[in-house]
Amino acid sequence: MIAIANDHSALDMKKEIIALLEEMHLEYKDFGTYTSESCHYPIYAARAARAVASGECDRGILLCGTGIGISLAANKIKGIRCATCSEPYSAELTRRHNDANMLAMGARVIGPELAKMITRTFLTTEFEAGGRHTERVNMLAALERGEDIE
Ligand code: RB5
Repeated sequence: MIAIANDHSALDMKKEIIALLEEMHLEYKDFGTYTSESCHYPIYAARAARAVASGECDRGILLCGTGIGISLAANKIKGIRCATCSEPYSAELTRRHNDANMLAMGARVIGPELAKMITRTFLTTEFEAGGRHTERVNMLAALERGEDIE
């Protein structure tokens, strides 16, 4: 199950991403916003991020104007590793190396076709588990718990 959420600036892009998820035969849960009325992106980021952190959803896609605000909000939720990406290379590497569980994109930064390419890459790339990348992701979790990692 893929969580998807957006603010008012990214409604059209959400429709494009949902069409891709349907094409990929992936189930999704849309956490809003559902209208073009100006709204606060942290609310929608938190709804989707909590669903990913709890295990209700496997991964999440977040969309706002830049992809930055909504990813900052998601990364405040314990267990979330959200990466803002504007090209597929970063989307691939943030899966392989960071085990990112949420992807953020900016509807005012990139076009719909690039956003779909990035999303497909993010959703089809596996984490390189078991070695130095797992160790580093574990360090991220330790930082989240307020632990000293040095
Ligand atoms: C909304 O105007 C805009 O600030 C928001 O979509 C996002 O870009 C914030 O980071």
